[in-house]
Amino acid sequence: MGKGKLVKWELMKSFSNVIEKDNQFKGNWAKSFFKNENPIVVELACGKGDYAIGMAKLFPEKNFIGIDIKGNRLFTGANTAKSEGLYNVGFLRTQIDHLEDYFEKGEISEIWITFPDPFPRKGDIKKRLTSKKFIEIYRKILFPKTTVNLKTDSQLLYEFTKETIESERLTTIKDFPDVYKMGKNEELFGIQTYYEKMHILDNRTIHFISFEV
Ligand SMILES: C[S@@+](CC[C@H](N)C(=O)[O-])C[C@H]1O[C@@H](n2cnc3c(N)ncnc32)[C@H](O)[C@@H]1O
Repeated sequence: MGKGKLVKWELMKSFSNVIEKDNQFKGNWAKSFFKNENPIVVELACGKGDYAIGMAKLFPEKNFIGIDIKGNRLFTGANTAKSEGLYNVGFLRTQIDHLEDYFEKGEISEIWITFPDPFPRKGDIKKRLTSKKFIEIYRKILFPKTTVNLKTDSQLLYEFTKETIESERLTTIKDFPDVYKMGKNEELFGIQTYYEKMHILDNRTIHFISFEV
């Protein structure tokens, strides 16, 4: 690991807005971590946490948690939240596969999945964050009929998600095959993530789909 990364990791240990593989807040995030009773929204595969931070500014009456396995990226988001004095956003470093170790059923009120890796190989289908395996994990931390939002540049993942919605008999809420051509980004709070900006420069189509699990 490079020296820069090591310094960030060391510094991040002192950040009170980052939880690393520690389940002390399970069932108690609102009261003990955020010190309020507001609903909690999570951003999965958050990278630098652009959606979590953007929404935390727009919705001070809600709490947000950005979740990713890459500490280096979380550091950037956590540092921004700290320097901007945003107390309604925190970060959790873990594999998304282990969400039920960190949250009780019903503790999360909405999920955003932003530009996750599409895992195009057939053998990696279970790693896709909208596969049946992950829907079952989300059900363990959500009440029925909670919204999951996916924003992606991957046609494959977008189509795959529609197939999952059908095979799992879920309900589609919104389906925007081309967010920018349809003029829908403002409806999605106008937030662009680090990867989204790169994909737009690359002229890639941005898809959005939301559904109830
Ligand atoms: C392409 S990046 C997108 C980051 C950010 N959402 C953005 O749009 O800029 C995908 C992120 O998903 C994370 N990721 C993928 N699968 C994961 C998993 N199972 N658990 C935790 N993080 C995961 C990676 O570490 C990476 O930071």
